Amino acid sequence: MSFKTEQEEFWSGAFGSEYTQRNRGVHLLASNIALFSKILARTDGIGAVIEFGANIGLNLRAIKQLKPDARLAALEINPSAVDELKAWGGVDEIFHSSILDFKPEKKWDLAFVKGVLIHINPDCLSQVYDLLYASSNKYVLIAEYYNPTPVEIPYRGHRNRLFKRDFAGEFMKQFEDVRLVDYGFAYHGDANFPQDDITWFLLKK
Ligand SMILES: C[S@@+](CC[C@H](N)C(=O)[O-])C[C@H]1O[C@@H](n2cnc3c(N)ncnc32)[C@H](O)[C@@H]1O
Repeated sequence: MSFKTEQEEFWSGAFGSEYTQRNRGVHLLASNIALFSKILARTDGIGAVIEFGANIGLNLRAIKQLKPDARLAALEINPSAVDELKAWGGVDEIFHSSILDFKPEKKWDLAFVKGVLIHINPDCLSQVYDLLYASSNKYVLIAEYYNPTPVEIPYRGHRNRLFKRDFAGEFMKQFEDVRLVDYGFAYHGDANFPQDDITWFLLKK
């Protein structure tokens, strides 16, 4: 694959593969089940879901527990993560692609990102918002690190790899027919179900 941004090279290569080795296990899955049970409780009629930047499927595995009949799709740039998604077997459609190259040929009831927009080149965010909107016929979920104004912060010793901002606010400005259904925060210090301090926004078209 050839990429337009240095951030895509980063995630498709060794750093991304090492990430997939570091981030796995039953505790992360349990936290995701707790998080998605809150989010999915605010939805109805979700039969098909796509996750952009799914890694090895720790969110999709949680959703599969909660919505066993849902058809799942995953898009992921890193080849080792894609191999693991295939080996799991719970995903109906797997797209090995960059978000920035993907052209959806259909829509899903829920299109979501979690911890992915923070790693996209900020110049390309509007394109990714277009993709999320175009891929959904009902709900969009944006679960990322929030900051009221855009900031870049060092990420494991790397510069220009982690960006925080009001992604959902920007999304709602870009698409005025979208409304906020619910939002919340999941804290790293939670006694039972910690997450990496993510702020989630459930939006409906
Ligand atoms: C921090 S991880 C989050 C993984 C997963 N969403 C979760 O919540 O556990 C970021 C993921 O996005 C993927 N990613 C980053 N940039 C991407 C791009 N341009 N296209 C597709 N996937 C990308 C990475 O390979 C990685 O799997």
